[in-house]
Amino acid sequence: MLFFLDTADVTEVKALAETGMIDGITTNPSLAASSGIPFPQLIAQMCALVEGPVSAEVMAPDAATMVTQGRQLAKISKNVTIKVPLTVEGLKACQTLSHEEIMVNVTLCFSATQALLAAKAGAAFISPFIGRLDDISQSGMELIKDIRLIYDTYGFETAVLAASIRHPMHIVEAAKAGADAATMPPKVLRQLYQHPLTDLGLENFLKDWNKSGLSI
Ligand code: G3P
Repeated sequence: MLFFLDTADVTEVKALAETGMIDGITTNPSLAASSGIPFPQLIAQMCALVEGPVSAEVMAPDAATMVTQGRQLAKISKNVTIKVPLTVEGLKACQTLSHEEIMVNVTLCFSATQALLAAKAGAAFISPFIGRLDDISQSGMELIKDIRLIYDTYGFETAVLAASIRHPMHIVEAAKAGADAATMPPKVLRQLYQHPLTDLGLENFLKDWNKSGLSI
């Protein structure tokens, strides 16, 4: 399962890239706006820190402008993945960019029908927003399961990228449901490491070791 960081915080990406667990980055317009860094520069900085896909979202109402913006962003680095919204125009742009062998991440997916359309449009990634579905009392995880089943049934190669992850159990459930990847805030990645019994066990081992006079 691939782990992507969902952030526009370059300092966090630098710190967490050192763990060796980061397979890519996703950003969105809201995160980018909070970074205070001009967008192309932000994407370039992210691409320098990780080898895997770095999603950069286009912002335009029509497919033609999305394609122009996508081509422009794709020139920044070979690992730029263009993020388009799940709209008629977004999927038209997805088809064009995918034919040009530019990887596309289709975002703002909230239903299985939308995911099916994105796969038909040649998306490299589909991003179902599971946290935002949970927020309105719909099951984000059921959507991941439905998409997995549909993609496997038809042999679609579009990767299922669980997005809008809010906590570690979203990662566990998405992994059990067969998501290819998950994109999470830095805080959630750090939480994945944590267990109180690990801390307690280590504390006791350390105490006994120090008392014993043993060394390595
Ligand atoms: O990239 C998608 C993700 O950032 C959305 O997360 O927590 O704003 O629903 P959230």
